[in-house]
Amino acid sequence: MDLSITIAGVKFPSCFMNASGALCMTREELLALGRSRSGAIVTKSMTVEPRSGNPEPRYYGFPGGSINSMGLPNLGYRAYAELIPELKQFGKPVIASIAGLCEDDFLTMARVINQARPDLIEVNLSCPNIPGKPQIAYDPVDSERLLKRVRPLITVPMGVKLPPYFDPAHHAVMAEVIAHCQVDYLNLINSVGNGLVIDPTRETPVIKPKGGFGGLGGALIKPVALANVRAFWKLLGGRIPIIGTGGVVQGLDAYEHVLCGASAVQVGTVLVEEGVGVFERLERELAAELKTRGLRSLEESRGKLKEL
Ligand code: DOR
Repeated sequence: MDLSITIAGVKFPSCFMNASGALCMTREELLALGRSRSGAIVTKSMTVEPRSGNPEPRYYGFPGGSINSMGLPNLGYRAYAELIPELKQFGKPVIASIAGLCEDDFLTMARVINQARPDLIEVNLSCPNIPGKPQIAYDPVDSERLLKRVRPLITVPMGVKLPPYFDPAHHAVMAEVIAHCQVDYLNLINSVGNGLVIDPTRETPVIKPKGGFGGLGGALIKPVALANVRAFWKLLGGRIPIIGTGGVVQGLDAYEHVLCGASAVQVGTVLVEEGVGVFERLERELAAELKTRGLRSLEESRGKLKEL
């Protein structure tokens, strides 16, 4: 079964790939993604300076999903700029994710990362875990100004990673911003920010930073992810490709994202829990789903969620 897909003219050998943040910070992790069946190599969101991130414990997996407050630990953009040519040798797309701590950081990184020629650049406007810094994409005015400044510096396809929105009015406002900023693809969604998971036995949060508040991921966020994929797909008339991220644990979850409008899907929590072998399993499961339905490609189902 052919599970390859194309986003903004870039061909991906598989629709399954890592979500930024999951096993993609160090050179070794990125090379392991290159050797795996991941359809792309997505880097950890980079900042201008290297960061060690928030205090540990800062990730916790549980049966329904995960909570993290990593705080953008990464090697700094110069290191990723140097690594990109090596990563491209695997012959699959390299997506460089950038996450500034202020607006000008995005511009600084975009200039240099663009010169390193990743296949796509993903602008992360949705990190929930930097103490004192709100998620940029919850402010449409800030988001539009930032995207309009960064766009001219990027000559490869540019994607934007958004947080979940919980009201149609917010979907509508952000869809307008996206439509006006020459965005080549959307990645929906980042973790559901500022959840709290506690251990009732110890009577403490399960992670240390921010009093235990962190971004939720995994199975429990799938309905939120699907709603955001569907809302943006409809508002943008299916014209901007979407990578669906959130709650993909099995092949069928990916199929649900595709029905809502996703072209590809990314996995975070399940990749961290299962390792890079997860890609092969997901491909097998999705191929079986398509076969059962008598489908020969994902294209046939994209956005085709039926009305009740
Ligand atoms: O859940 C997340 N964690 N989303 C991000 O964008 C960044 C990451 C982190 O490093 O905290």
